[in-house]
Amino acid sequence: MKLIFILLVLSSYVVLADDDSSSSNNPGVVPVNDANYTEECGACHFAYQPGLLPSASWKRIMTSLEDHFGENAELETKEQKLLTDYLTKNAAEFSNYKRSIKIIRSLTKDKIPLRITEMPYIIKKHDELTSAMVIGNPEVKSLSYCDNCHTKAVTGSYAEDDIIVPGYGNWEEYEHSSSFIGRIKHGAKEIKEYINEEILKKYF
Ligand code: HEC
Ligand code: HEC
Repeated sequence: MKLIFILLVLSSYVVLADDDSSSSNNPGVVPVNDANYTEECGACHFAYQPGLLPSASWKRIMTSLEDHFGENAELETKEQKLLTDYLTKNAAEFSNYKRSIKIIRSLTKDKIPLRITEMPYIIKKHDELTSAMVIGNPEVKSLSYCDNCHTKAVTGSYAEDDIIVPGYGNWEEYEHSSSFIGRIKHGAKEIKEYINEEILKKYF
């Protein structure tokens, strides 16, 4: 009986501790369930879940694949149509998963970023990272490689307990370490350095 009570208290604590201000009980985003998509769009980076971007962003990405962030990611017309269909139908605005809801809520109407890493919600969530942890970190390369830090990203989970920044270890432990607290005390000027100036100007 006592144990059940403790478990109940613990589980309600977990619910309260999560900063869920949305009505959704589904954390993260819907996992990818299209093998074709994983194969075609998971070759250079992990296959981003459709729920990480609004359909308008996916449309822009899928109609400019010949010039895809400096790479040629062109597909055959039939394939391009199938994947556009999959991405837009499962885009963030049609999802009731927590992260998708937050990504959409953070958007201002007239701005449709091309990148997940340009979504105001995503920028905000990463403002404690330094350039040394991201671009200066050969095991991370850029913020675009989500799965280099979010160890369960492929499952659609971005939960804090599963974040390991290569070279810095488990994020929750790092946040409580003296080096992190020391940075905050010194104003942590480097914190936003890795974010592109233009992006900062555009959204803040
Ligand atoms: C030939 C390699 C390649 C293929 C294939 C490819 N991409 Fe990319 N993609 C890239 C590169 C390079 C970047 C930029 C990464 C960076 O900025 O560090 C990128 C970035 C992205 C981003 C933005 C990530 C961010 O920073 O928020 C999205 C979204 C994306 N790709 C979707 C797709 C989709 C959808 C497909 C399949 C149609 C695809 N990619 C196929 C190379 C590729
Ligand atoms: C360099 C490591 C790193 C990379 C790469 C990275 N993240 Fe993160 N992410 C973090 C850290 C650290 C946090 C902050 C956790 C905290 O303190 O709440 C975070 C937070 C988040 C959160 C909020 C989690 C929460 O519980 O509030 C989401 C969602 C997220 N990241 C998605 C992404 C996506 C999508 C990508 C790729 C486009 C990405 N991240 C790339 C390290 C990273």
